[in-house]
Amino acid sequence: MLDKLKYPIIQAPMAGGVSTPALAAAVSNAGGLGFLAAGYKTTEDLRKDIQEFRNLSSNIFGVNLFVPNLNEINDNCNVDDYRAKLEKEALLLGTTVGDPIVDDDDWHNKIDLIKEEKIPVVSFTFGCPSTETIKELKQNGSFVIVTVTNLEEAKIANESGADALCLQGIEAGGHRASFSNNMEPHEEYGLLVFISIVKKEIDIPIIAAGGIMDGCTITAVLGAGASAAQLGTAFLLCPESGTNPVYRKALTDSDYTTTHITRAFTGRRARGLVNYFLSTYDKEAPAAYPQVHYMTQKLRKEAVQSDNPKYMSLWAGQGYKLAQSLPAADLIKTLMLQVNTNHV
Ligand SMILES: Cc1cc2nc3c(=O)[nH]c(=O)nc-3n(C[C@H](O)[C@H](O)[C@H](O)COP(=O)(O)O)c2cc1C
Repeated sequence: MLDKLKYPIIQAPMAGGVSTPALAAAVSNAGGLGFLAAGYKTTEDLRKDIQEFRNLSSNIFGVNLFVPNLNEINDNCNVDDYRAKLEKEALLLGTTVGDPIVDDDDWHNKIDLIKEEKIPVVSFTFGCPSTETIKELKQNGSFVIVTVTNLEEAKIANESGADALCLQGIEAGGHRASFSNNMEPHEEYGLLVFISIVKKEIDIPIIAAGGIMDGCTITAVLGAGASAAQLGTAFLLCPESGTNPVYRKALTDSDYTTTHITRAFTGRRARGLVNYFLSTYDKEAPAAYPQVHYMTQKLRKEAVQSDNPKYMSLWAGQGYKLAQSLPAADLIKTLMLQVNTNHV
């Protein structure tokens, strides 16, 4: 499947309204692979996104799902202490703290929809589906990708029958794709060394993700053994993306100078621009996903509505200063020119 792409460029799925059908279609129409993000969406909204993509493009595309991990939800997590702190902030914003809901992101219905719609490419994040589910999806014609952050996860995904692995380096924006949210401190890999480590042990196609912002870096990951490069942050400023205006401004604003990996917004580790909320609550947030996601949801929504970047989750990879405000097709053309001339 990856060989059939005109260009080895995959637009990362970006949940939270960023990877719109318009963005995915523009990327697929330009010769890359566009992705829709199913995370946090209702199954009916995902169905509408798929329909909208198909109205805009007849090319192949992907859908990305969050794998629920209900077994590891830790009831003893100190959600109440965090809630008390959030309540003070909610009061200032004129909103309330949400309930610490635990759900599976409508996993079974989304898998049924993927089968019904015969989605060409399906990728998974936050875990590896069962061998049985992967087998069924493959028999139904989907190419199955599992996102991994270390060698152990890569081995599990390979043994479970994945067609390809998406390797997420530590540079990446958004959530860490780790299978577990309660991991002991462990080695976290920069993208290039991670490709080499996995390549030595596992012989299925690799997609590289994390900090890829220009053609020279695409050349580097292909040279290291990846079959394609997956870019998220590079697409955030495209007009087709759903990045809201305040988020767009923060990405180019000199007020924001660093990124950091934090649990503050969702209870799961994710890299974003350091703002007031992140720096204040980074050390406070418990490892409780999706509870913290639901608890902070109204604060984040209110922040968007009142143009207040201090409380927004401004997900971004380490390369965010290199993001360009170009239509997706022009961005892909620019990247491929850089790949072909080896010059940024
Ligand atoms: C705003 C944003 C949202 C993201 N949402 C998802 C998602 O829903 N599913 C997923 O697998 N990865 C998600 N990611 C991570 C990307 O798949 C990818 O690993 C990352 O963007 C690569 O690093 P880069 O941002 O430096 O290009 C997200 C990344 C960003 C920036």
